[in-house]
Amino acid sequence: MISEIKELCLKANAIILAHYYQAPEIQDIADFIGDSLDLSRKAANNDADTIVFCGVHFMAETAKILSPNKTVLLPDIDAGCSLADDCPAEEFQKFREENPDHYVVSYINCTAEVKAQSDLICTSSNAVSLVEKIPKDKKIIFAPDKNLGRWVQKNSGRKLKLWPGSCIVHETFSEEALLKLKYKHPDAKVIAHPECSQNLLVLSDFIGSTSKLLDFVSNDYSDTYMVLTEPGIIHQMKKKEPNKNFIEVPDIDGCKCNECPYMKLNTLEKILDCLKNNSPSIELDPEIIKKAYKPIKRMLDMSI
Ligand code: 13P
Ligand code: SF4
Repeated sequence: MISEIKELCLKANAIILAHYYQAPEIQDIADFIGDSLDLSRKAANNDADTIVFCGVHFMAETAKILSPNKTVLLPDIDAGCSLADDCPAEEFQKFREENPDHYVVSYINCTAEVKAQSDLICTSSNAVSLVEKIPKDKKIIFAPDKNLGRWVQKNSGRKLKLWPGSCIVHETFSEEALLKLKYKHPDAKVIAHPECSQNLLVLSDFIGSTSKLLDFVSNDYSDTYMVLTEPGIIHQMKKKEPNKNFIEVPDIDGCKCNECPYMKLNTLEKILDCLKNNSPSIELDPEIIKKAYKPIKRMLDMSI
């Protein structure tokens, strides 16, 4: 299957981009792996005719907005995101209209229609630095993740009007399970994604985007890390640091709810099928592409 995928990629001049939350076998066949910001940069700068986006819908949409003349394939078109679902475009429009004097910063985990209504897009790796750059006299709306928003607020010192969205994966980690693990491994460090809720972030030694978590474990001297984000990232952590230990923090019931059910919809079989059929592909209204491009481009320009 892997050689067939590689052959079809060559024929179609296609590249495979994968997020760190994809299954290990998908990460291993990708031409490029990264966090949301790395993936946007790569989607904007490559010579392929087709991008096979192994991630979720909003990420593939962002690739289409940045490279509208390319075919962007998403192996499973139902690979959505609870944060994007939590912020319907019509309700967001009302919220903006109720706060007309606000500058609108949207986390990249939102639909193209919400991006089209925003002044600036950010990811978890640049949110604090971008918010810090917004002129001090501007009031700011931050959507759709309230947990990331609170963390940005704390670290930038800027007051943000938050949209009440959250990620179903990062909100299910159990504080009790984390405390028990801390007791069992007193020397281990807790590393967390800023989408986690406040009670977990206060127990963390380092907070950052998936790429920043990966860099942290390489530049730090501890032996063991408790990882408060989707466990797909642990595949790369183990590759980079084979002698270190990485512990998944369980959710409330001890089941595998710490896995993103949307990210895990993509499989090698579906990658092969989408290359064979040139479908499912991302199609967007050209007007939405035009409007959504501006705040994404602004982010890329501001985060050089
Ligand atoms: P990153 O930007 O850190 O890759 O996060 C994306 C995401 O969906 C986190 O849940
Ligand atoms: Fe969306 Fe959460 Fe999955 Fe990230 S982990 S894609 S925020 S549902």
